[in-house]
Parts: sequence; C-alpha cells; structure tokens
Amino acid sequence: MDLGSLTVAIVVGLLGALYWVLKRVNEWVYESKLGEERRSRLPPGDMGWPLIGNMWSFLRAFKSGRPDSFISSYVKRFNRTGVYKSFMFGSPTIMVTYPEGCKQVLMDDEHFIPGWPKATLKLVGRKSFVGLPHEEHKWIRKLTAAPINGHDALCVYLKFIEEIVVSSLEKLSNAGEIEFLTELRRLTFRIIMHIFMSTASEAIMEELERVYTNLNYGMRAMAINLPGFVYHRALKARRRLVEILQSVVDERRAGKRRNGASKGKDMMDALLEIKDENGRSLTDEEVIDVLIMYLNAGHESSGHITMWTTVLLQEHPEFLEKAKAEQEEIVRNRPPGQKGLTLKEVRQMDYLSKVIDETLRLVNISFVVFREATSDVNVNGYLIPKGWKVQVWFRNVHMDSEVHSEPKEFNPSRWEGPPPKAGTFIPFGGGSRLCPGNDLAKLEIGIFMHYFLLGYKLTRVNPKCPLRYLPHPRPIDNCLARITKVTPQAK
Ligand code: HEM
Repeated sequence: MDLGSLTVAIVVGLLGALYWVLKRVNEWVYESKLGEERRSRLPPGDMGWPLIGNMWSFLRAFKSGRPDSFISSYVKRFNRTGVYKSFMFGSPTIMVTYPEGCKQVLMDDEHFIPGWPKATLKLVGRKSFVGLPHEEHKWIRKLTAAPINGHDALCVYLKFIEEIVVSSLEKLSNAGEIEFLTELRRLTFRIIMHIFMSTASEAIMEELERVYTNLNYGMRAMAINLPGFVYHRALKARRRLVEILQSVVDERRAGKRRNGASKGKDMMDALLEIKDENGRSLTDEEVIDVLIMYLNAGHESSGHITMWTTVLLQEHPEFLEKAKAEQEEIVRNRPPGQKGLTLKEVRQMDYLSKVIDETLRLVNISFVVFREATSDVNVNGYLIPKGWKVQVWFRNVHMDSEVHSEPKEFNPSRWEGPPPKAGTFIPFGGGSRLCPGNDLAKLEIGIFMHYFLLGYKLTRVNPKCPLRYLPHPRPIDNCLARITKVTPQAK
C-alpha cells in the first residue's frame, strides 16, 4: 500500500471510529446511569448524536414533507416493537407508537406526568395545565372544562358561533383572494375570545391573534434563542401576550374593586373569582398562563381542521355531495318557522361527523404529546425508566397501515360500522388530559361546514401547494383561495 492510500485508510478509519464514539455518547451518559439490569430492558432504538440527539432526523423528516419517515426508520431498523428509545428535545426519551401503549400512557396518571420540552413550557407558561401539579390541574380543569364542553354550554355557544360563521362567510365571499387558513384562525379565535374574554376590544383581539401566530411557530422549533430564529420570535410573542393579558387582568381587578364581583360574565371572571377550599385564589401569573393556553389551544387546531375538512371535501366530490345532501336533508326536515341550527340537528350530522373524524385522523394536527415517567414503568415488555421523557405518537397510530388500512387515503366511509378499538383513534388524547374542547371544536367545524356546504365553494389559487408540517400541517400559502357563493342556478 502506498503512502497516499495508507493516509486515506487511516483517515477513513479515524472518521469511522469518531462516528462510532459520537453515536454512543448519549448511550454512555444516560443509559449507564441505569445499571446493567435496567439497561437491558430498554426498548431498541437510537440515541442519536451528542446534544442534538435525533432532532436532526426528526426535523429533516418533517421539513422534507415526509413526516412518517421518522418513525418508519425506527420500524425498519428495530422492527415493530412499538416502543423505541431516542434522544429528543434535550432529553432521553421513549417513543410509544402503537395503540395499546399510547392508551396505557395516556390513562396512567400515577406513573406519568406532563413532560413537554422546557422550551415549549417557557412559551405556554409554567402555570398552564402542562406545568401544574396534579391536584391544581384537576381544580382549574374542573372550573374551566365543564362550562366549555357541557350540553348547556354548547347550546349557548351555538347561536354565537352560527352568527359569526354566517357573517364571516358572507364577508369572505366578497373579499376576493384570501388566505383561507388565516381567516379561519381569526374566526375560531373570535369564538374562544368570546368564551374567555367577551369584553375585549377589537384592537386587543386582533393584536392577540397576530401575536399567537408567532408563538405557535416556535412551539416545535429548535430552541435557539437568537435573533432571526423562530424560537426567539416566539419568546418575544409570549412576552407581548403576557403584557396584553396583564393589562386586561389589571383592568378587570380594578373594575371588581370598584363594582364588586361580577356575575360570572365570562371565563376570565370565573378565573379571577375562583377560590379553593382553603380560600386560595389564583395569582395573576396563573390566570394569565391558563388564558394563554386556552386561547391558543382553543383556536389553532379548530381553525386548521376546519380548513382541512373543507379542502379535503372539495378534493373528493363524491364525499362532498354526500355531506351536502345530509345538510340539505337537515334543512328540509326543519319545522316551519325555525331559524338556524339547533344542537339536535348538529348531532344528526352523522356523515359530516365521519368526515371530520377522518380529517382528524389524516391531518394529525397534534401529532405527538409529551409525558415524563415518575417511576419505572413497563410498556410492551420494555422499560421506561423513571425521569425519562415519553412521547405518545398519535400520528403513527393514525397512519399505521396495520391499524387503519390505506392510511394515506381520505375515506370517511372507514368510520362506518362499529366504533374504533380503544387507542386506535386518539386525535383529542385521552385520560385526565383529554382535550376539554373536543365537543366545542366539533361543534364549530360542524356549523361552519353546514353553511359552507349549503351555500359556498372554495377555489384554491395553488391547489398543489406544498405542505409544511411544523408546527401543524398546512399548505405553505395558508390556503390562498376565493370563496364564492353557489347560487341554485350555478349548481
Ligand atoms: C380540532 C381541534 C382540537 C384538537 C385536535 C385538540 C387536540 C388536543 C389534544 C391531543 C390534547 C391532549 C394533550 C395531552 O394529552 O397532553 C388537547 C388538550 C387540550 N386542549 Fe385541545 N384540541 C382541539 C381543540 C381545542 C379547543 C377548541 C380547546 C378550547 C376550548 C382546547 C383546549 C385544550 C386544552 C386546555 C388542553 C389541555 C388539557 C389538559 O392538559 O388537561 N382544544 N387538545
């Protein structure tokens, strides 16, 4: 071997050794602490590179438009164990990707607590639900969830939602080219603001909605707090949200001092007046963090799913016709003199409900949720060590061809027949942290679709527009489109 070839062989050998060492740093640092016996029970997987772990492959998969390739690379390398070790968002992590395992983690409050990345917690607030201890979470959740999702609440909100949907569609149909997603986010934001802060001025509402967009983009971005980076902008957005909401809290508290307790006008009043059995009320920080969380959770996902339901139906005329026929039937069967929808009618939208479920399954707006193990737990025969993070991969459950056949196809008919097996359809999560806005969200989408299907058409400017998957799946043009009225003659 000449000197040149020898040098090349040495360099290749050294690089190979360096690669081998670097790929094992996270294993040595985090697994060696577990001891041999516990280590041997870890699931298979790959702990990635020092510091960044598997974040690079995760972001590459999502940013290249093939989000499912991230988990499928684990399945290919380590088989369908449904539980894999990894290193994500700065922590050793177990990813759970199969229905029974996801259900087990979601239902088990004794061994799992929320485990969102520190960077996300900084954005949502340490006093929001994801940062609260179990008892406080239960207390504030009880106060806020029933008034949003109960039958009586939905009856009250229905009229308001209907009004705002009817007027928005009318306005949008005269607006020319619009970003359909942006408009729907505005619409759903108005609804959640009405529930939580009904007296907020138009200016506050508009600024809050704008600032939330930046907050959201930072939710699943790399936590790089440097000017120009998405996460930096998101932190700035959070500071602005706190400022705005603090001024509203100050105003309300001053009003209460002047006029005494209000008669529970909206959820913000309820949060300001709540007391636990020891007479403790919420601090400003707690009220603001709960508001930031609800206002955000309460409009982003519903806005996106409403857009996708409309887009997917338009792309599948056979399903659109069926959904439309159902809405026409509802109107035909309406007693004379009745104006507008009733909750009973919304509950009769059986086919539309399947369309919405199929949209939730296919779009995977919340593709993963985060937990942390509070003690050693067994899942599918593997160890989740105490203190490790756990990711519950809803997206994988919904897109696994062994759980849902032809998972990439939009096919509402798959929901005909018996209800899905537990854990196989979990767009709203489960257990004590099940989304408290699930019925409200479906009501909003149902009402929008009712009026849209009966009177409007969406024409996209770029129907083949590429998608962005983080933080939520959306066309990169925010669904640039025209909404036009469909007159009976033009049908
Ligand atoms: C299509 C719409 C929606 C989807 C797909 C969705 C999805 C989810 C999911 C998956 C979770 C569980 C998170 C976890 O387990 O850690 C969740 C929690 C939550 N959602 Fe929703 N959501 C939607 C709409 C709403 C609405 C309209 C509201 C507001 C009323 C809302 C408020 C919340 C809150 C406050 C939590 C935290 C619950 C807790 O930790 O106890 N969501 N949502």
